[in-house]
Amino acid sequence: MAFYVTTPIYYINARPHVGSAYTTIACDALARYHRLRGERVRFLTGTDEHGQKIERAAAERGVAPQVFADEVARSFVEAWPQLSISNDDFVRTTEPRHTAGVQELWRRVRDNGHITLGEYEGWYCVADEAFYTEKELVDGKSPTGRAVERVREPSYFFALSRFQERLLAFYEAHPGFVAPEHRFNEVKAFVRGGLQDLSVSRTTFTWGVKVPDDERHVVYVWFDALANYLTSLGPGEREFWPPSVHVIGKEISRFHAVYWPAFLMAAGYSDDELPRQIYVHGWLTVDGEKMSKSAGNVLDPLKIAAEVSADALRYYLLRAVSFGQDGDFSHEDLLTRINTELGNDLGNLLNRTLGLCAKNTGGLVPSRGEGGDLERALDAALVKAARDAEAALGRIEPHRALDAIFELCREANRYVDKAAPWAEAKRGDAARVGTILATLLSVCEALSVLLSPFLPEKSAEMRRQLALAPLAPREGEDHWPAAPPVRAPGATLSPGQPLFPRIDDDQRRLLLERLTPRRPAAEVAAPPAAPAPTTETNKQDISIDDFGKLDLRVGVVVSAARVPKKDKLLDLRVDLGEPEPRRIVAGLALSFTPEALVGRRVVVVANLAPREFSKGLVSHGMLLAAGPSEDLRLVAVPDGPAPGTRVK
Ligand code: MSP
Repeated sequence: MAFYVTTPIYYINARPHVGSAYTTIACDALARYHRLRGERVRFLTGTDEHGQKIERAAAERGVAPQVFADEVARSFVEAWPQLSISNDDFVRTTEPRHTAGVQELWRRVRDNGHITLGEYEGWYCVADEAFYTEKELVDGKSPTGRAVERVREPSYFFALSRFQERLLAFYEAHPGFVAPEHRFNEVKAFVRGGLQDLSVSRTTFTWGVKVPDDERHVVYVWFDALANYLTSLGPGEREFWPPSVHVIGKEISRFHAVYWPAFLMAAGYSDDELPRQIYVHGWLTVDGEKMSKSAGNVLDPLKIAAEVSADALRYYLLRAVSFGQDGDFSHEDLLTRINTELGNDLGNLLNRTLGLCAKNTGGLVPSRGEGGDLERALDAALVKAARDAEAALGRIEPHRALDAIFELCREANRYVDKAAPWAEAKRGDAARVGTILATLLSVCEALSVLLSPFLPEKSAEMRRQLALAPLAPREGEDHWPAAPPVRAPGATLSPGQPLFPRIDDDQRRLLLERLTPRRPAAEVAAPPAAPAPTTETNKQDISIDDFGKLDLRVGVVVSAARVPKKDKLLDLRVDLGEPEPRRIVAGLALSFTPEALVGRRVVVVANLAPREFSKGLVSHGMLLAAGPSEDLRLVAVPDGPAPGTRVK
């Protein structure tokens, strides 16, 4: 079976933010889940790079649109792996495979008689890249509250009005085409209200796909963008068509649920060849406010991931918001859920289980005996969690799937208390202790599978600690647990660090301060003006020999701790490829928790004279970083060069 899931392709007038991360993470969880079930999966995301909005954004920056596009598209390509996104392809609308595909789709629609030349006069909103009728304007603005412009230009029109009846019939025959239902009702009401022909080309700018056989026009950016779902399929990938689900935000449902199927119908696609579902999710606010550049509260998902782990962010986004509804990103709630649900319910279960094994079974997987009512109840809870999560994911309700899985965690924690292996150990009943611990190990193993679509890194870490092979989804192999996993006794368990280390009150305060967006500059008192850099200060050139005196090295932070009574300092040990890690005391504590630094690949000034901060606290080097002390970014070295490698 094939499963083809897509995100919207994101405009490149903004870098990845929590909104685009939200959709992408949801699609990733779906893709990972379907791979785990043994399906052939294609997960597509990408960037929408044409149109007037992008042309203007590039002009504002004073660069050519393609240069601008390359730079911002890269920020998406590089961001997603940091959130463990497992997309199979990334489509850019400026790629030849796409532009050729758009022209082909255009020709087919035109040759079928559904595109004709005319003149457009009306309103256009560049921010929405959408045409609006007079009737649709609200107080002289677009329905989304953005500025509109009056335009009058020659334009090709798509005969959308011809498809009204066929669309309504299609909706009728496919009651799940748009979900959730209330979104489908909105779409149907819009189509029933009557469809006007749609302007599908522009002549007042040039940044787009050229209209075939009429180069004065560029293709309307939505005709261009929607086609990505088709154009990105290479010759060997056509079997994925039609898409199983396009996941989108609520503001673009009209484009996906009305225009897109109509374009495809016009190109000759039969109803069976149209996308199976458009899943419309809600919008996120940030601490109760609309996320926007002007409010200064656009959240950077990579910063959050660096502070609390990508998996914690993924979990939070998918658990805290009912998918399909609007929701709020609350920093307080994020940190609370990390401690309670991730730390206590999940992390502690694994810790407790492995700790009890270390104490009672010599750290080995014990054999499981017959068991009694308690074990049967927990086994049943496991099967129920797997089934409920499966059903929820089938309905694209990741929040409910997580709820079902975490109910199993809580059930397993209650089981430990009830079964009380410590009491059995005291009584000397080693067989019973073994059965209890084997039952718990079986739940932990099942959890490592059930959670892998949501928490891929932590699930892999769970499996490492449980001494299980990494999950390797393969076509035709279903890994979803249908029954409690049974393991041969004897393997040596490998307990490690807590999955989600507890965030104490001090760290919480610090994290809240660092993660909560600052108010826009206009609202805060202007800082005293810094002296403008003069050419003299910039001109103190040094020779290459001077530069050569600096011994810059690749380092990996192996441990980090706060320094009592010194708010700004962290006491680090950094691997520089020397026999012992170096001690470096760095002023990073306002920007990083100690945990966030461990494992970072940094650049170290390795030949700085030792500096004593206080008695006994001596630093033997310095890390390179940029920014104000409460928002520093470390200079990093990507994977590759070993610790100690010279930076030159
Ligand atoms: N380029 C078009 C889509 C073309 S698809 C053929 C576009 N791009 S966008 O960059 O504006 O991305 C919009 C999508 O980003 C939304 O549909 C949603 O998936 C996601 N989100 C952006 N901000 C969001 C929130 N504040 N909350 C939730 N999702 C948000 O529209």
